[in-house]
Amino acid sequence: MARDFAVLIMIIATIIAPSSASLVTFIFGDSLTEVGNNNYLQLSLAKSNFPYYGIDFNGGKATGRFTNGRTIGDIISAKLGIEPPPPYLSLSENDDAILKGVNYASGGAGILNDTGLYFIQRLSFDDQIMKFEKTKESIKAKIGEEGANKLCSEAVFFIGLGSNDYVNNYLQPFLADAGQYTHDDFVELLVSTLGEQLTRLYQLGARKMVFHGLGPLGCIPSQRVKSKRGECLKQVNIWVQQFNSRVQKLITILNKHLSSAQITFADTYPIVLDLIENPTAYGFKISNTSCCKVDTQLGGLCLPNSKLCNNRSAYVFWDAFHPSDAANVVLANRFFDSLFSNSSHSPSPSPSPSPSPLPSH
Ligand SMILES: *[C@@H]1O[C@H](CO)[C@@H](O)[C@H](O)[C@H]1NC(C)=O
Ligand SMILES: *[C@@H]1O[C@H](CO)[C@@H](O)[C@H](O)[C@H]1NC(C)=O
Ligand SMILES: *[C@@H]1O[C@H](CO)[C@@H](O)[C@H](O)[C@H]1NC(C)=O
Ligand SMILES: *[C@@H]1O[C@H](CO)[C@@H](O)[C@H](O)[C@H]1NC(C)=O
Repeated sequence: MARDFAVLIMIIATIIAPSSASLVTFIFGDSLTEVGNNNYLQLSLAKSNFPYYGIDFNGGKATGRFTNGRTIGDIISAKLGIEPPPPYLSLSENDDAILKGVNYASGGAGILNDTGLYFIQRLSFDDQIMKFEKTKESIKAKIGEEGANKLCSEAVFFIGLGSNDYVNNYLQPFLADAGQYTHDDFVELLVSTLGEQLTRLYQLGARKMVFHGLGPLGCIPSQRVKSKRGECLKQVNIWVQQFNSRVQKLITILNKHLSSAQITFADTYPIVLDLIENPTAYGFKISNTSCCKVDTQLGGLCLPNSKLCNNRSAYVFWDAFHPSDAANVVLANRFFDSLFSNSSHSPSPSPSPSPSPLPSH
């Protein structure tokens, strides 16, 4: 665990180095990090390129981000002084932009291939890794094999998947996985699949990887409405924490076995839970229902005919799944604060087992 802490410090050092403007980032994820890949998937039902998505984004445009404004990734990129990497599907194969980083995230995606099945089209984590493999080939073609390997070994790979494996798979009683597996078996399936996927990224040249753990999914509006009085679903939160702790163990093992791998687990759970439980401490008023008032609607997305709340900054949740721009600002800031306060301490082995939390819901 002390090693995890040291690894995190190293990654932080990379992130906050004066040369951070040249930092290359590759992003793998779901709707929490997507910046518009699904706009290019004609049949995908997991889209957000219509009002009122983006109403508080630069220019008020819907871009395919699943929030009213910026994602956590956008806010962190701005703090680093880099442009948020563009969606993979917006780039041509020979685009020079790939040398600065790419975002492969896709709404509805999961660790498992069949997660989010009913969205028809999305890029699963396996699909995203295959796209990265193509990117790596294109980078090689541009700067040679050695250059490509160096670029990948210095880049930071942010990975945030797993929410949909619950929300749009295990927690849907009409899907096969819910009936087929006990939760213990399902977690083993997720974690063993994730182990293969992270190993594959390592084989493709990734060294510095940050895996975002899951937030308290039992407290998102679409789950709360399943309880009698709109409370968090305790069982779901227990499952999510079980997943998080199994992933932490996986990462410790991978760091031991893959030479020069620096994989970090970013524990987002406590930060997100605190924001949900104490909204007023952060200047919010409401954290148990969505601004779009779509908690009980099929899909839970904000729609052109939704009736918006009258103060979007007072709500932690924008739609039934995703935080508002204002919430993303708080989460991104807490992430940064924890990085700075921790990295300024002498990196003596930390007695605390958890590395500093990286918020992303
Ligand atoms: C998921 O699909 C990809 C191809 O899209 C395939 O290579 C991979 O083996 C599949 N994984 C599983 C666990 O079925
Ligand atoms: C949200 O919490 C407030 C009190 O904190 C309560 O009055 C309200 O009914 C809750 N809303 C939902 C949708 O559960
Ligand atoms: C909207 O909510 C935010 C956060 O609770 C608050 O600071 C702001 O004053 C509110 N704006 C209006 C117009 O009520
Ligand atoms: C710093 O890291 C410790 C664990 O190493 C963590 O508990 C804490 O929340 C982090 N952030 C701050 C602001 O101390």
